[in-house]
Amino acid sequence: MKECWKLTTVAVLCFFWVPIGGFAVEQQLRFGKNGEFKILQVADMHFADGKTTPCKDVLPSQAASCSDLNTTAFVRRMILAEKPHLIVFTGDNIFGLDATDAAKSLNAAFAPAISSNIPWAAVLGNHDQESTLSREGVMKHIVGLKNTLARVNPVEAHIIDGFGNYNIEVGGVKGSGFENKSVLNLYFLDSGDRSTVSSIPGYGWIKPSQQLWFERTSAKLRRAFMDKPEAQKGPAPGLAYFHIPLPEFASFDSTNFTGVRQENISSASVNSGFFTTMVAAGDVKAAFTGHDHLNDFCGKLNNIQLCYAGGFGYHAYGKAGWARRARVVVANLEKTEKGGWGAVKSIKTWKRLDDKHLTAIDGQVLWSKTSAEPRRKKQIGGT
Ligand SMILES: *[C@@H]1O[C@H](CO)[C@@H](O)[C@H](O)[C@H]1NC(C)=O
Ligand SMILES: *[C@@H]1O[C@H](CO)[C@@H](O)[C@H](O)[C@H]1NC(C)=O
Ligand SMILES: *[C@@H]1O[C@H](CO)[C@@H](O)[C@H](O)[C@H]1NC(C)=O
Ligand SMILES: *[C@@H]1O[C@H](CO)[C@@H](O)[C@H](O)[C@H]1NC(C)=O
Repeated sequence: MKECWKLTTVAVLCFFWVPIGGFAVEQQLRFGKNGEFKILQVADMHFADGKTTPCKDVLPSQAASCSDLNTTAFVRRMILAEKPHLIVFTGDNIFGLDATDAAKSLNAAFAPAISSNIPWAAVLGNHDQESTLSREGVMKHIVGLKNTLARVNPVEAHIIDGFGNYNIEVGGVKGSGFENKSVLNLYFLDSGDRSTVSSIPGYGWIKPSQQLWFERTSAKLRRAFMDKPEAQKGPAPGLAYFHIPLPEFASFDSTNFTGVRQENISSASVNSGFFTTMVAAGDVKAAFTGHDHLNDFCGKLNNIQLCYAGGFGYHAYGKAGWARRARVVVANLEKTEKGGWGAVKSIKTWKRLDDKHLTAIDGQVLWSKTSAEPRRKKQIGGT
């Protein structure tokens, strides 16, 4: 709900509140008049101190002129080329070990997103807290930056593990029957850094407290979507973003994924069950991670697409001669019989390489409302 008081002829004071079980108008993300919503995913920037920070794994001929500033330039180019409606940074935004001042590195890392005036969101990876700020400190710093929709944690969850668990609702087209409904639900979770249980080695995982919050949020959103007006038979599609891949990312080989796998799946050494939780909730159609910079595939298991973005940052490990890359996701609405816009009809993805023409590769349909089996396209678009 929104209420405004006209103070003078130019100033309008607005109060926003979130209707229980309804669409949170305050966030104001919604599909545009072209029935499209596009998300740019940036994984593993590994930003440190800027121009003095060298690049890793580039060709010998590229090393001298390469620094964190190349990462910044790539973010800018991607924003200009794709004009996304939301930018999502999926962790290891900064490489804490080499960042002298965490706050400065975060400011610099997100600067191109901030100056684009496009709303953006971020989650934490396993390296973000290795500089001068704790995980909580990093997330608190992020939520204080301009144009971000990130939040430290949901107010409705009194106890939750990690920092940077929240959801974002994307409303239907203004003036359509779906204008007060979230037609696309985005979930952001903190997948932790290292295990804090001494008998369990390796990386962190999504904890029961976070899964409970996800389940409750998903159920609440499903009820709202299936309620009047335009009562729907099933939930609105959801997309989940976090840093560390789930053990289920290891379910594929080149016969059943799109993209490449050039290193092992570095998930936690235990399975905390978040994949099963998502399958049971039924709304999430795809989960997007980073963490393994040399893997950039999407594979489908139990009707959920598990996708990597591929490494983005130049101070992150990579492979010389194998371009840094980013993932784009676009959701399209269906046309109603009356010629207006309805609910989400399809969700597509592709990647772009940081080469001369920002070459788009591996275009594919992740999910579509009508056909159960996604179609596949090898090459899409140009510059
Ligand atoms: C990094 O940026 C510099 C300056 O624009 C450019 O000359 C160089 O080719 C870039 N390096 C890579 C690996 O993209
Ligand atoms: C959406 O909410 C506004 C404000 O309450 C209302 O005027 C409008 O009719 C609603 N739209 C639909 C499609 O229900
Ligand atoms: C992918 O194919 C391999 C065999 O090539 C099979 O073992 C695996 O179960 C398949 N994965 C999925 C998710 O279908
Ligand atoms: C994955 O791990 C296995 C066993 O630890 C190892 O033999 C293999 O070389 C690794 N594969 C890649 C692509 O790194």
